[in-house]
Amino acid sequence: MKYRIAVYPDKTSLAKAAASVFADAFKRSVTGKGSFDAVLSGGETPLLLYSLLASEYRARLDWTKAHFFWGDERCVPPVSAESNYNSAKASLLSKIEIPPNNVHRIKGELPPIEAAKAYEKDLVSHFGLSGQMLPSFDLVLLGLGADGHTLSLFPGTKALDEKERLVVENHVGKLNSWRVTMTLRAIEKARQIIFLVSGEGKAAVLKDVLDGKDYPAALVAGKEVLWMVDSEAGLLIDS
Ligand code: 6PG
Repeated sequence: MKYRIAVYPDKTSLAKAAASVFADAFKRSVTGKGSFDAVLSGGETPLLLYSLLASEYRARLDWTKAHFFWGDERCVPPVSAESNYNSAKASLLSKIEIPPNNVHRIKGELPPIEAAKAYEKDLVSHFGLSGQMLPSFDLVLLGLGADGHTLSLFPGTKALDEKERLVVENHVGKLNSWRVTMTLRAIEKARQIIFLVSGEGKAAVLKDVLDGKDYPAALVAGKEVLWMVDSEAGLLIDS
């Protein structure tokens, strides 16, 4: 994996830096193609970033030009506290003027395979894909699990072997739950991929992933992969 890494003193400075990178990507895409196609990540780490975008950047970006997607979703209703969509709605979507049709939610309330197929259809339609064409996201935000998963590509799960589909249902045995996740193919053509990693609990796995050890997150390839981490997560990295 070709990558760059930036280490920030704490999670607040990490979120501020990530918001600035997000806004730059947003403006560059709107200038270049008149819109901005971004994949949001789930979990806790990005929530501070989302809150900053909804406050500091609320009036500075033209949200009507943004299309938001999710890299993965839990198979729960959109009102569930577990829902990645619900977390992003509370911290960001409910506070910005983004047209509802520009919010491409994974329908976690559907049976997993139906939700995955419906989402793939949404990607195909939005990007006008045919044959082997892949989505050209302008920015993909990713998190890193302590077990080295990213999106909902957990170690040892079937989704990791998917070579054709862009979105799949994935049973995660250790969580005893289903997820819907983009596959590695779906983000391969992204212009920019940013991993956001925070906290001492991720220090060991971050080092292993950057050393190329066999974890799902280490399989992510893209034009430009940027790791933005706080000093706790970066404890073991000689940056
Ligand atoms: C999810 C995420 C997942 C997340 C990592 C890190 O649905 O949970 O998409 O891939 O990014 O698990 O989560 P934290 O930021 O909560 O540590």
